[in-house]
Amino acid sequence: MSGEMTILGSAILTLLLAGYLAQQYLPMPTPKVIGIDLGTTYCSVGVFHPGTGEVKVIADSSGHQSIPSIVSFTKDDVYAGYEGLELADANPQNTIYDAKRFIGKNITPEELERESDRYPFKVLYKEGDAVYSIKTNETFTVTPEYIGSQLLLKLKKMAEEYLGLPVSKAVISVPAEFDERQRNYTVKAANLAGLDILRIINEPTAAAMAYGLHKVDVFNVLVVDLGGGTLDVSLLNKQGGMFLTRAMAGNNKLGGQDFNQRILQYLYDSIYSTYGSLPPLKEEIHRLRQSVEAVKLNLTLYNSSWVQMPLTLPKRQPSKAEEPRQEKPPKEEAAADEESGRADVPMEKVYFEAEISRKLFEHLNWDLFQKILEPIEQVLKEGHLQKDEVDEIVLVGGSTRIPLIRQVIREYFNKEPNTSVDPDLAVVTGVAIQAGIVGGAWPLQVSAIEIPNRHLRKTNFN
Ligand SMILES: *[C@@H]1O[C@H](CO)[C@@H](O)[C@H](O)[C@H]1NC(C)=O
Ligand SMILES: *[C@@H]1O[C@H](CO)[C@@H](O)[C@H](O)[C@H]1NC(C)=O
Ligand SMILES: *[C@@H]1O[C@H](CO)[C@@H](O)[C@H](O)[C@H]1NC(C)=O
Ligand SMILES: *[C@@H]1O[C@H](CO)[C@@H](O)[C@H](O)[C@H]1NC(C)=O
Ligand SMILES: *[C@@H]1O[C@H](CO)[C@@H](O)[C@H](O)[C@H]1NC(C)=O
Repeated sequence: MSGEMTILGSAILTLLLAGYLAQQYLPMPTPKVIGIDLGTTYCSVGVFHPGTGEVKVIADSSGHQSIPSIVSFTKDDVYAGYEGLELADANPQNTIYDAKRFIGKNITPEELERESDRYPFKVLYKEGDAVYSIKTNETFTVTPEYIGSQLLLKLKKMAEEYLGLPVSKAVISVPAEFDERQRNYTVKAANLAGLDILRIINEPTAAAMAYGLHKVDVFNVLVVDLGGGTLDVSLLNKQGGMFLTRAMAGNNKLGGQDFNQRILQYLYDSIYSTYGSLPPLKEEIHRLRQSVEAVKLNLTLYNSSWVQMPLTLPKRQPSKAEEPRQEKPPKEEAAADEESGRADVPMEKVYFEAEISRKLFEHLNWDLFQKILEPIEQVLKEGHLQKDEVDEIVLVGGSTRIPLIRQVIREYFNKEPNTSVDPDLAVVTGVAIQAGIVGGAWPLQVSAIEIPNRHLRKTNFN
């Protein structure tokens, strides 16, 4: 098996070497193939510059290197990325996000019902697929791949603006667990956007390539991808210069949102114990959530951060104050259940302040951070590896910036993980390198080729 790989590897090397020699006599080309990371919550596009050997992640007109994976429909137009996000509050029923969860996925009506509950828009069952029902001045349905195509169209335009050329070819990444149908539908989305997909690459492989691991002598690479809502762990083997996914495990209910939720619950407890009630206004709850996200980001750099905001709370009734206190502070839902600004309850404005130290943040999330080790242990078990046999550990996804998460992983392996590439851009960086290889840009190593592993199953911990 691995002998065959080596022969194949050498054949490819010879071929590419010939291409390289031929190219010595040609002018340096501009990138012809773009690399796309079509993520669940954010997506990005990048190119490999053959001249400098550098990857450029392309920004939108406001300088964002990633755009939200959100598409909003109005009667006049379709808005993707930040423009879609801006409409999310005003137009929630027609603003679609998370479409990647449904793209090409065979689903039963029961599964769909369970999944669709958490969305403000309507997801319908149609012959094994999910479709979205949109209602502007007309009513129609759109498919998840159509949502994908609108995002891809936006990314394509960003790339064309940056390159000053029309673009029609791309390499795209997908989760390692995507089956053939999900891959096909991702390609369909790209075709709808006028893009020809030259290669599909697994996200963990792309992340490993962002660190140049296709060029160095490593054998076992562990990729930990912790985003807003999901954790994915992949164990890659490099054989004859090609990456093979050996094992996958994850937790599709663990990520940054859960860490935010713990801070939010702490703040609710604190508000309740100080004022005896919870904020009923939706806008204030929304601002509190935004503030929690800002605090979390700040705590990656600083030891402590503050939540400071005015709140509108039901005025405390003197008689009520004498009633026995509830033993436990209520759950957050209690706040959302109350109707906004009920006329019969007198309200008062207070100024709420709370300090959140990094220590407190870590304490509130300690058990969740430990859970990251479960899928890591699982892939090692399935790959029959001891932890000291892992050559490199690659961290992907914004939540891997959290210092204690890095520490948990570092201490488990007794090894420094690879973190020098921005964890939000590691995948697009690797896909762009792959696009450079496919586009014939030299000098590059050949080894950036993947061996598909069709028999792999992903273990999920929830
Ligand atoms: C909906 O609005 C758009 C834009 O204003 C218009 O072009 C279209 O004809 C309208 N459709 C219907 C059914 O009224
Ligand atoms: C995916 O697309 C290929 C090529 O078009 C086709 O041969 C294959 O049957 C498709 N697979 C699925 C599961 O749709
Ligand atoms: C954070 O606290 C640690 C000790 O608890 C201290 O060594 C470090 O300098 C502090 N960092 C900042 C940015 O205040
Ligand atoms: C985050 O830290 C910066 C720098 O200390 C500070 O200016 C900012 O107000 C902080 N934000 C929050 C939400 O604490
Ligand atoms: C990260 O990856 C590179 C390979 O490009 C390697 O040389 C380096 O030692 C790795 N580890 C760390 C901790 O950066």
